[in-house]
Amino acid sequence: MALIAPHGASDLRPLIVDNARRTELEAEALALPSLIMSSAAAANAVMMGAGYFTPLTGYMNRADTLSVAEHMTTTDGLFWPVPVVNLSEQCPVQAGQRLALTDPNREGHPLLAVMTVDAVETLTDDDVATILDKVFRTDDPEHPGVAAFTAQGRTLISGPIEVLNYSYFEEDFPETFRTAMAIRAEISERGWERVVAFQTRNPMHRAHEELCRMALEDLSADGVLIHMLLGKLKPGDIPADVRDASIRKMVDLYFPPNTVMVTGYGFDMLYAGPREAVLHAVFRQNAGCTHLIVGRDHAGVGSYYGGFDAQTIFDDEVPDGALTLEVYRADHTAFSKKLSRVVMMRDAPDHSPEDFVLLSGTKVREMLGQGIAPPPEFSRPEVAEILMAYYQEIDGTAA
Ligand code: ADX
Repeated sequence: MALIAPHGASDLRPLIVDNARRTELEAEALALPSLIMSSAAAANAVMMGAGYFTPLTGYMNRADTLSVAEHMTTTDGLFWPVPVVNLSEQCPVQAGQRLALTDPNREGHPLLAVMTVDAVETLTDDDVATILDKVFRTDDPEHPGVAAFTAQGRTLISGPIEVLNYSYFEEDFPETFRTAMAIRAEISERGWERVVAFQTRNPMHRAHEELCRMALEDLSADGVLIHMLLGKLKPGDIPADVRDASIRKMVDLYFPPNTVMVTGYGFDMLYAGPREAVLHAVFRQNAGCTHLIVGRDHAGVGSYYGGFDAQTIFDDEVPDGALTLEVYRADHTAFSKKLSRVVMMRDAPDHSPEDFVLLSGTKVREMLGQGIAPPPEFSRPEVAEILMAYYQEIDGTAA
């Protein structure tokens, strides 16, 4: 059976070039003005290269940026939840010229993409205020997504791009980084039809593991795509390689074969809560998934978003028919001491908070750093072991 159609197109439109075109572009770029991109802009290029941002053909101009920020729709009427921009302090070329975009995240800043510049515009104070308000729902400079966005500069360089490679993601995460094309191919190979995606930027504890199991069962899905973010995070978040190892261990030990794919994508975390959840839905549809798990405080940080804002946005702001993928809404999930299993709180109405094993992120961090495994009701011992080794190593280095 054919997989779910990509967003806004009948086929994926990856902007990665083939070897012959890469050689041509590399030669051309030697004579082009170049710009070292922001990490966020580079991540956008990787996502466009890898087919996840189908049907976009390049970076948005000011009109599209504002239209997407305000209405989640481009000026051409394409549903799109977050501006995909190339922002910089300056631009070395004018509209109509070609520009070599180089990689801020690899040594020597190699070529990442080549762009035909359609427009060079400047975002005004009002534009930035609108974008922050709509996309992040805050202009607090302490918000990590706001800080990363505003640090890029105000010069908006828009136009179509061709992408030469997937930056550091292929080399650093060869087992885990996958393009949307590769994920679709593997889903087909496995013969899956109903596929539920689990977004994560954290290691997976019992609650997360059970969320995947519940979604599999409730949706009668063929498999779960664990799809982890491999790009930049805020300080304090667990690095992708450690998270990857702990997730793989959990899947190997606790899931039957051919029910889970462990994969990752090359994007920097926005921490934009509800809007990022909608973006997550768009690119999971592009990766061939029929459903996305959205639980408590999805893509959130601190207390900027309500616990379930990332679910209600799909009811209140995403127009009917804008997406084909469906959201699997999960309530706060934790181990019930009364029932001796992990449950969604909405399914245990007679419970009080003391009936659950609940540990704050700070508490878990503290325990792991001291070499104390969280209780097995919270974390699988094999997962805790990997996390303890990591924290003891960084705490030892810091001391
Ligand atoms: S995220 O920023 O990538 O969303 P995280 O890796 O913590 O963060 O969460 C992954 C997914 O699990 C999200 O859909 C989130 O809402 C969900 N989730 C995490 N913890 C819980 C929990 N205790 N109960 C319900 N959903 C949860």
